Amino acid sequence: MADRRSFLVPKHIHELRPYIAGKTIEEVAASYNPKRISKLASNENRLGCSPLALEAAQRSFDTIMNYPDPAGTNLRNKLAQMYHVKPGNVIAGSGSEGIMSLIMRTFFLDHEEALTSSGTFIGFIVLANSRGIKLNQVPLTADYRFDLDAIADSINPYTKIIYLANPNNPTGTYFTVEEFDRFIKRVPENVLVILDEAYFEFASDQPDYPDSMRYRLDNVITLRTFSKAYGLAGFRIGYGFAHEDLITNLMKVKLPFEPSSPAQAAGLAALDDMPFLQKTQDLVIRGRERLYTLFDHMGIKYVKSHANSVMMVMGNEEESTNLTEFMLKEGVILRRLQAFGLPDCIRVTIGLDSELDHFEGVLRRF
Ligand SMILES: Cc1ncc(COP(=O)(O)O)c(C=O)c1O
Repeated sequence: MADRRSFLVPKHIHELRPYIAGKTIEEVAASYNPKRISKLASNENRLGCSPLALEAAQRSFDTIMNYPDPAGTNLRNKLAQMYHVKPGNVIAGSGSEGIMSLIMRTFFLDHEEALTSSGTFIGFIVLANSRGIKLNQVPLTADYRFDLDAIADSINPYTKIIYLANPNNPTGTYFTVEEFDRFIKRVPENVLVILDEAYFEFASDQPDYPDSMRYRLDNVITLRTFSKAYGLAGFRIGYGFAHEDLITNLMKVKLPFEPSSPAQAAGLAALDDMPFLQKTQDLVIRGRERLYTLFDHMGIKYVKSHANSVMMVMGNEEESTNLTEFMLKEGVILRRLQAFGLPDCIRVTIGLDSELDHFEGVLRRF
């Protein structure tokens, strides 16, 4: 039987290393039973979620026996209106990662290749590997930034999709208007660029941040999400913008009834919740500054972030393992980054003041 089953599984799936999420609160409680738990591992919104979104999702339960609107009409119309594009330029999906998966299924031929940086969002790496295509990764610069010139240098005749996260996870760094303008001039029109802006709400105040919605590029797909700034990660709702032809073809491949109706309703209402967005942005800005001051004081290296997390750079892999293990036993869940190719680094999500107090107390004891 075993032979028969392996025969059924393609080699690239056999060899696929799945995405491993951070530890859950329940797992940590069961293993260590700490007095309190602060989950600072998954770049979630520690304030909770937009209350307007939650109310709208609850109202959608009245019609939960019906299938969702396959076109996601209300949400796409609203996004189109907000960003001055046509609804035909907008797609909604099961998280921005759901749309990413759709892109991989829609546009790749088997012999084509994907290109990105090392030290970036693992979700994309898993999707590329599960599609069985060749994935090329260019090293980060010494200061943990995307090297767009080197990525452009690595485009070859088989390159089909380039994935860029701006700001990047887990480093929190962003590339500038100048860097992006230089880069995009070198990308042929038959190469598709995924601009993953999952954290753009935490960087768009930077004057040199290249907000992709200010460009109109026919070979760029912008991806954004309600998971971070609006705290809707559990609903699985994200959105994207692209040329109408690309969206039309993505819509053909999309599962007809994703995203779910509560997710669509929550996303639509979240877009009106400016007070919640502002509170989230304030928390993140304050939290980042607090961590910089703490790390400076303790002589810990870190990378300045424009996302809702800060990456600590420990002396070596052993130190990063020891610290994350020590934190875990004390109920602080952090993200080690060996799977991202950064074994000496740790990512800390910006938490509530009380959660950062918890983190700081344990760090000082360590
Ligand atoms: C860069 C980046 N893109 C996408 C995602 C996934 O977002 P979503 O919840 O919308 O699928 C994440 C989540 O951590 C991320 O860090």
